[in-house]
Amino acid sequence: MKKDLLAISDLTLKDIEHILKLSASLKKMQKQGKTHQPLKGKSLGMIFEKSSTRTRVSFEVGMYQLGGQALFLSPNDLQIGRGEPLADTARTLSRYLDGIMIRTFAQTTVEELARNATIPVINGLTDLHHPCQALADLFTIKEKRGKLKGLRFAYIGDGNNMAHSLIEACVKTGIHVALACPPGYEPDAGIMREARQAALISGSELKLSNDPIKAAGSADVVYTDVWASMGQESEHAKRISAFRGFQVDPQLMQAAAHDALVMHCLPAHRGEEIAAEVIDGPQSVIFDQAENRLHAQKALLEILLG
Ligand code: CP
Ligand code: NVA
Repeated sequence: MKKDLLAISDLTLKDIEHILKLSASLKKMQKQGKTHQPLKGKSLGMIFEKSSTRTRVSFEVGMYQLGGQALFLSPNDLQIGRGEPLADTARTLSRYLDGIMIRTFAQTTVEELARNATIPVINGLTDLHHPCQALADLFTIKEKRGKLKGLRFAYIGDGNNMAHSLIEACVKTGIHVALACPPGYEPDAGIMREARQAALISGSELKLSNDPIKAAGSADVVYTDVWASMGQESEHAKRISAFRGFQVDPQLMQAAAHDALVMHCLPAHRGEEIAAEVIDGPQSVIFDQAENRLHAQKALLEILLG
């Protein structure tokens, strides 16, 4: 596996299979109350330039359970906040830590940090990607359905960081993807181009349209995410009107398979991208996804920092 996880495209199919297998065994061990501490004495630094509930807590608890520790590093307190170059920060932190997790805005920030750090760098969300969530989501789907290849995955909503990582994760593992986004809110063209190439290898179908009901047709998984991501708060009102008709509601769920999984990375806005009765209904697996962040990231940490 590469030194860093900056995007799902950094992983081979074998890497993903390895992470998912280890996630399952770490989850089992934890449920059985078995101690497993391969990262004894190791430290993970966590830089957050955006808010987080799941990522922060699951990484921190994950490091602790693996025998190591995690340090929460606020950019307000770090010298980067006062203009110290990112490269110098990367070189310095590499002398103390065994890994860095960063949540920030530009993907180029994560890339620059990784280029200058001698230790693994993990992308905990940028404007472009959210690979840790996508890994936990693959793990959740595998747990619920027993397989990945050949399943039908519908993504309804914004062609954002979540969409990008899910597209990459699905096409690598042979899941068919149908996306429906409002005009002007489609995923990044470069990511789509590369995903089409990856889909040729795995046998995935990859479709993009502006029609949510069509995308949801016969889906095994229906996934959505917020209409305005972190950093886009000022566009909220404009987006509410652009995304009208893209809510995952009971009517849309009628188009999907009768037992389709409902997924959302959280935090969610009930009444916007998803109806309350759907996200809180029997098909929803959102809290399994949230829990699986812990297990999937522990696998990643054990592999990268171990
Ligand atoms: N899904 C997710 O990354 O949640 P947080 O923003 O709470 O970390
Ligand atoms: N697309 C969302 C995901 C949050 C986990 C955001 O970037 O805010």
